[in-house]
Amino acid sequence: MGRNVSSQPLRVAIVGAGRIGRRRAEVMAASRSARVVLVADTDRARAAALAAACGGRVTESWEAAATAEAVDVVVVTTSHDGLARATRAALEAGKDVFCEKPLARNLAEAAPLVALAERRGRVLAVGFNHRCHPGLARLRALATEGAIGQLLWARCRYGHGGRAGYEREWRADPVRAGGGELLDQGIHALDLFGWLFGEFAEVAAFLQTAFWPVAVEDNAFVLLRTAAGQVASLHASWTQWRNLFSFELCGSQGYLCVEGLGGNYGPERLRVGKRAENFGAPDEQVIEFPGEDRSWELEWCAFVSAVRGQGTPVASGRDALAALRLVEAAYRAAAVGSVIRPERDPAAAPVAAEAVG
Ligand SMILES: NC(=O)c1ccc[n+]([C@@H]2O[C@H](COP(=O)([O-])OP(=O)(O)OC[C@H]3O[C@@H](n4cnc5c(N)ncnc54)[C@H](O)[C@@H]3O)[C@@H](O)[C@H]2O)c1
Repeated sequence: MGRNVSSQPLRVAIVGAGRIGRRRAEVMAASRSARVVLVADTDRARAAALAAACGGRVTESWEAAATAEAVDVVVVTTSHDGLARATRAALEAGKDVFCEKPLARNLAEAAPLVALAERRGRVLAVGFNHRCHPGLARLRALATEGAIGQLLWARCRYGHGGRAGYEREWRADPVRAGGGELLDQGIHALDLFGWLFGEFAEVAAFLQTAFWPVAVEDNAFVLLRTAAGQVASLHASWTQWRNLFSFELCGSQGYLCVEGLGGNYGPERLRVGKRAENFGAPDEQVIEFPGEDRSWELEWCAFVSAVRGQGTPVASGRDALAALRLVEAAYRAAAVGSVIRPERDPAAAPVAAEAVG
């Protein structure tokens, strides 16, 4: 008889025991909903250190961890070149999977994973944890309930300044990473744009390799426009010498702006502004979100509920495909030097082309 995953802690295998693997393992260790039983990393010492901290047996084989019988769910937190491989093996073995963003290095690697999860009836969640940051969650709730009127545009600036030797890390290697800062941090902003506006009809981009001696972009400037004329702009940067996260959303009646993500991105706060009747200085309310970043915990709880048949994950494999479509459109737009129409989600409804301005 199958194990009843609704009543017992989920048995988790972690593939990739780096910075984010550890972060996710700590969240699980603190929860009653899951128990780490296996930890895999190509670097055995890392796996051993994580297992010592959060429990579980150590293996060097990602395949053994992804397919082990005594595992209910697999959490994939490798560098980008390992994500799709481990996710596919786990799904084929009948596991539910939580995979880190961006799910794969590109759309061609990612799309079959989503199809496989759907065919097998498995949960495939992707780690777009920014959706669970309290300021961004509140921003979306307010926008959705019409607090700032009709949505006009969004602007995100996101970046850090790397660290000594950054050019030798996997993120700087186009084969291992699949892209540069756009695929690294920029994809979070693209996911948030899609979460707020739905599909985009046009994408333009400039990419720079401005400072780091690497073969990927260290700065990405992307402009996106919906069929209704709403515009979103992104500047993602590895030359932001002081960490920055700023996400602005402008509506016909006001604006919402999230600054900071906690930690070394500064305290998270949401500014809510209402356009004054006479167009003078607007009334502004500032909401602070002090304390620890709980986005990882909230995201994990939603995943566990989805595995138990209650609700959906915060971001699904399909959400990852939507973000990857925008990433690929931006890379193409930058390469050809013109505006690109991103590939559409084949399951999406036709776009209503109602112009804003
Ligand atoms: N959600 C977020 O905000 C966020 C933040 C940072 C990183 N990430 C994502 O998390 C993932 C990991 O990033 P990180 O910062 O932890 O990197 P990291 O370099 O700290 O860790 C990656 C680990 O994976 C291991 N690894 C690589 N290939 C493997 C394989 N085939 N099998 C087993 N282990 C393997 C490496 O040895 C390393 O220990 C990436 O997908 C990254 O984009 C997400």
